[in-house]
Amino acid sequence: MRTQVAIVGAGPAGLLLSHLLHLNGIESVVLEVRSRDEIEATIRAGVLEQGSMDILNDAGVGERMRKEGALHHGIELAFAGKRHRIDLTELTGKAITVYPQHEVIIDLVAARLAAGGQLLFNASHVALDGLEGIGTERPSVSFVHGGQAQRLEADFVIGCDGFHGVSRPMIPAGVRQDFQRTYPFGWFGILVESEPSSDELIYAQHERGFALVSTRSPTVQRLYFQCDPHDHVDNWSDDRIWSELHARVEINDGWKVKEGRIFQKNIIGMRSFVCAPMRSGRLFLAGDAAHIVPPTGAKGMNLAISDVHLLSRALDAFYKRGAEDLLDGYSDAALKRVWRAEYFSWWMTRLLHTFADASPFERQVQLAELENVASSRAMQTALAENYVGAF
Ligand code: FAD
Ligand code: DHB
Repeated sequence: MRTQVAIVGAGPAGLLLSHLLHLNGIESVVLEVRSRDEIEATIRAGVLEQGSMDILNDAGVGERMRKEGALHHGIELAFAGKRHRIDLTELTGKAITVYPQHEVIIDLVAARLAAGGQLLFNASHVALDGLEGIGTERPSVSFVHGGQAQRLEADFVIGCDGFHGVSRPMIPAGVRQDFQRTYPFGWFGILVESEPSSDELIYAQHERGFALVSTRSPTVQRLYFQCDPHDHVDNWSDDRIWSELHARVEINDGWKVKEGRIFQKNIIGMRSFVCAPMRSGRLFLAGDAAHIVPPTGAKGMNLAISDVHLLSRALDAFYKRGAEDLLDGYSDAALKRVWRAEYFSWWMTRLLHTFADASPFERQVQLAELENVASSRAMQTALAENYVGAF
């Protein structure tokens, strides 16, 4: 089997890349280890920056996002018994949309299938050709599909297979540098049947830990709170979850987090990670395959989208004009944005979480920094610019 671009992984990065290439008349095949049902039902990110919305709209896959997503013009910070609004639009002229990642996936799968795109779900034993193959002009990917061992030959292989995928390890250790930090806490996430508690997202810092009130739709809400990353969901009864959320987010002004039936609970660990460069020969990485951010800044899906936007332009220039300069510049261009998002996600995480080993001095400095953000237009502008992705 032969194609122009072999894409490993059907997350937001892989699917959007395949779609953008198709719009430029470039052929690709996407290999995905999971089933279509699984990728369309996995609950993950929720926030799209304006730049991501623009890319999805320009690519013709934004119709449902515009109709069903919720445009938000501000966020709130809650700490020390007060809530402070940050007016994203007034400060930056931009907004964000809350539209779940799995809905983006559903829209992209539908667009690819409608255009006759080749998405091979349930592909197992996916392996990139040896380093020599990837370094040459004839890289290939072997896999098993429908019980048959197959080989996909391509001009390029794009690793969009997430943090635990097989692509990143193919960049030779001597070429690659990994940067990382793990955090001593995780997020407990729940999905709840209820009306929204708030018109805007609330990021709360409390001595008991961080909490986040987000939303999914008029009838389903998404809430998170900081927890031990090694804890287990079974240790958390619904009552215990609600009392923790009430304690962390409410400020005794009568407003309350709305309770409802909790129909999903999960715990995620938190890390910052960057692999540089994001390329080796004819292998390019995009999205979580190359970098991870802690979710506090809501950047992960947005970085995946901006990576493949850059890559699609570089591949277009290669196929239309034989130009390799954008391909050569891809890693540096992508990493510039990645590091900015890494910085912001680390900063938001440090600002809003409770660190068990913080000294009383460090705790007071953290509160002073929150006060500084809440009272300084300059600090709010910096937060807002990073949050909406105006960089
Ligand atoms: P993935 O979505 O991980 O997709 C990779 C795909 O590759 C998967 O479908 C996987 O099955 C497949 N795969 C893996 N290995 C192989 C293999 N060997 N062969 C073939 N296929 C393979 N980001 C935001 O921007 N905003 C947010 O609000 C936000 N909130 C988040 C909340 C949570 C709880 C979590 C967990 C993440 C959040 N993120 C957020 C991050 C965001 O979900 C990820 O950054 C995003 O999914 C990255 O997309 P991707 O396509 O690079 O990788
Ligand atoms: C959501 C996730 C985030 O990481 C974030 O910062 C804001 C919202 C969400 O899943 O809704």
